[in-house]
Parts: sequence; structure tokens; C-alpha cells
Amino acid sequence: MGKDKIRRFAAVKEFPNFFEPVIKEPSSLGGNWNKHFKNDNPIVLELGCGKGEYSVGLAQHFPGKNFIACDIKGARMFIGAEQALEQDLDNVAFLRTKIDFITDYFSSGEVDEIWLTFSDPQPKKPNKRLSSKIFMDRYREILKPGGIIHMKTDSDLLFEFTEELIKEENYDLIELTWDLYGDLPENIDPITRDIFHIKTHYEKLFTAKGAVIKYCKFRIS
Ligand SMILES: C[S@@+](CC[C@H](N)C(=O)[O-])C[C@H]1O[C@@H](n2cnc3c(N)ncnc32)[C@H](O)[C@@H]1O
Repeated sequence: MGKDKIRRFAAVKEFPNFFEPVIKEPSSLGGNWNKHFKNDNPIVLELGCGKGEYSVGLAQHFPGKNFIACDIKGARMFIGAEQALEQDLDNVAFLRTKIDFITDYFSSGEVDEIWLTFSDPQPKKPNKRLSSKIFMDRYREILKPGGIIHMKTDSDLLFEFTEELIKEENYDLIELTWDLYGDLPENIDPITRDIFHIKTHYEKLFTAKGAVIKYCKFRIS
């Protein structure tokens, strides 16, 4: 790890909006997120958040929702966690964990929505994809009935895989587009337009190279 990564990784552990198992026992988090946020507002997760600017952007737009950005890379999450503190955004938190253990940190039905943003396509390890059936079954344990999953990606492989799974498992598909920005209707309401235009770090990199962004929204229960 480079010097700056080590500094950021150490610094983020001191932030009041940052959680990881060695700081807080999982059992003290699940079912208690609304105590941390001091309200009963809906909880939205971003899984594989990287730097977490997407959650910070959503938190600015939706003060009535609580956002928890999750990833295993603490030094990356420092960026978003620091932005949130600088902006006094108290409706966004950061949880460092492998998503494989996500059910340890939330109680049944505690989560309203999940965002999968530019998840690793994992070409050779389909079961490690964050939109695989194994992960969907984990998400079902923590989502409210009717809870929503959103996915944004540049990857044809991952999007096709997810679209197939939605069909095979008969999930309730709400929206799907293979060209999010090309398909956005001109008269779309301003809030929705803003949400789609909040870009993650990877999204900015990929769109600069001309990648077409795909999006889908569905329910698994
Ligand atoms: C391609 S990056 C995308 C980051 C961010 N969402 C963005 O769009 O800028 C994928 C991220 O997912 C995280 N990730 C992948 N699999 C994970 C897992 N099983 N548990 C935790 N994080 C994971 C990686 O650490 C990485 O930060």
C-alpha cells in the first residue's frame, strides 16, 4: 500500500460516519442504523461503492433518505466519507465489509433500496458478480418486501448476465435500458434527470472513453 493510501486508511477509521467490523461489532449495527441516523427514513445501500461519491450525490438530492456506501477498500471510501463530513451530510455513512457478508450488518427488511454501481464484471467468476443469484439471495434477506435494486454498468457481459437472471428468476422488472443517456426522454422530471447524471468515479472514466451506460431497476420479492 502506498503512503497516501495508508494515511487515508488510518484517517477514515476515525471518521464518525465510517464503520467496519473491528470498530463496531456487526451485531451492534444490524437493526440499529436508524439510531445512527437518528430518524426512521428509508435506507439505501450502494454496494461496491469505491470512493462513494455516488452515495454522497444521492444523499444531497434526497435529504429524506439515508445512504450507506459499502466496499472493502477503506482508503477509497475515505474520499466520499471526507466529502460527506465537509458538507455536513448526516444522511450518508460508509460501511467497510466484503459484500459477501452484507447480511451480518442489516436486519431482515431494514433496507429499502440497493444500488449496484459499476460492479466488477468478474468475467471468469460469475458467482462473484454482485448481481449473481448468490448475492440476490443475500439481498432478499435484508430488503423490505418490494424493495428495489438498481444497477448501472458499462459492461455488456454483466448487464446481459443480470438481464438473463431477471428473466430466469422471474424478478419484477421495472425499467431496463441498454443506453441510459441516449434513452432519457427530454421531458423527464428534473429530479430523475439529476439522479441519472450523478456519475460515479468509474462512470466518468468509462463515459470519457465513449462507453454506453446501461441501467435497470427491478424487485426480487
Ligand atoms: C469497478 S469498482 C466501482 C466503484 C464505484 N462503484 C464506481 O462506480 O466508481 C468496483 C468496486 O467494487 C468493490 N467490490 C467488488 N467486489 C466486492 C465485494 N465482494 N465486497 C466488497 N467490495 C467489492 C471493489 O473494491 C471496487 O471498489
